[in-house]
Amino acid sequence: MQALQDDTYRKITALMYSAIGLSFSDSKKPLVSSRLSSRIQRLGLEGFDEYFALISGGQDGGEFQMAVDLLTTNETYFFREPAHYELLERELTASKPRSLAVWSAASSFGDEAYSVAMLLAELEQKGRIGSDWQILGTDISDRVLRSAGDAIYPADRLRHVSPERLRRHCLRGEGDSEGLVQIQPALRRHVRFGQLNLCEAIEGLGPFDVVLLRNVLIYFDPPTKRAVVDRVLTQLRPNGLFFIGTAEGRVPCDTPLKSLTPGAFRKVAG
Ligand SMILES: C[S@@+](CC[C@H](N)C(=O)[O-])C[C@H]1O[C@@H](n2cnc3c(N)ncnc32)[C@H](O)[C@@H]1O
Repeated sequence: MQALQDDTYRKITALMYSAIGLSFSDSKKPLVSSRLSSRIQRLGLEGFDEYFALISGGQDGGEFQMAVDLLTTNETYFFREPAHYELLERELTASKPRSLAVWSAASSFGDEAYSVAMLLAELEQKGRIGSDWQILGTDISDRVLRSAGDAIYPADRLRHVSPERLRRHCLRGEGDSEGLVQIQPALRRHVRFGQLNLCEAIEGLGPFDVVLLRNVLIYFDPPTKRAVVDRVLTQLRPNGLFFIGTAEGRVPCDTPLKSLTPGAFRKVAG
């Protein structure tokens, strides 16, 4: 197959930028090429130009979504950035909400949503929050959302989950499923997933008490980051908690926020 040419690379990345906000610098060309090439071969296409024509044509039989699935980076694991879970526990212990709505706004495979669910189930059992709590996980990638609904994970992804939490909230696979872990139905009942593009208008979703938008802003350019953060924050209640990745720097937005700890904020009541 012919190598990915600069002009075709620019057309593919411009399409991804306009549709889902992802910014690819020139240095990402080898990555894009390697992620798409086996798919192009499997489809029996001649090369990247033909693939671009397919995904940009509008009559692609789902191939555009397949390209999104291939080009998004979905790295995640349970209890990533533990300081955020500790802060959430402290804040909820202090406020003792009777009901709680949480949004994991770039949920990937669901590790983050189920980590929050484990924490909330324990806070409920200790009487620190009421029993009416729900978590919504959304993502642009179909592939990760299908997997999140199944709630089955390689055990390694739960490496930061304590043995007690594992016993309480997870089922261990046996035989063919050795090495896999499934989240218990009692926890899954509180969590649902759906597709949502952060770069499009968001309607009828919130309001939420807690929003996690962690480790996705790094893939956007500055104007997209700002628009996404302000759009997401319209769904957060005044005084609600907002989290981004600790490595994502200052949060670029016009919505007033009070900084709590790195990557954690409270929406200022207007
Ligand atoms: C690196 S994962 C972060 C997962 C989790 N929040 C965490 O911190 O571990 C980033 C996720 O953002 C999703 N994503 C990228 N662009 C998006 C968009 N425009 N709308 C919604 N989700 C998007 C990707 O599909 C990917 O699953």
